[in-house]
Amino acid sequence: MSAQPISSAERDKLLSAARDALKRSYARYSNFRVGAAVLTDEGEIFTGCNVENASYGLTNCAERSAIFTAVQETKAARLSLRAVAVITADDVPCSPCGACRQVMFEFGENAIVIFKGQKGYREMSINDLLPESFRLS
Ligand code: THU
Repeated sequence: MSAQPISSAERDKLLSAARDALKRSYARYSNFRVGAAVLTDEGEIFTGCNVENASYGLTNCAERSAIFTAVQETKAARLSLRAVAVITADDVPCSPCGACRQVMFEFGENAIVIFKGQKGYREMSINDLLPESFRLS
């Protein structure tokens, strides 16, 4: 199945939820503040921010924070992602890291990802962002 487009209203709502989540960013080491919001197949929205640590490798990206919250909080039996939006504090480009792409794919094989690329905002399917994604089986 290919990615199902989202409406401009859904996209605006998701970006604004990500912008709100950014306010909670804990980025005292990089000062690179990120917020994310996910839209589930049921129409729920969950958000997350990046959370850094003095042991740098323990940092959690905003996208994974949002997805892990959604796994726990969704009313559905199993999380299914329709879209993910990412926002940065100064509206600088930020395409999701490889680890987050793999986690997005786990819960949304056709999810749409909204982020600011080098030439403005983009909407890309996770399949285009992560070709040949890893799967067990
Ligand atoms: N970061 C995210 O939250 N999402 C991304 O897609 C890329 C990077 C965070 C991790 C770290 O806190 C900071 O940005 C700098 O790498």
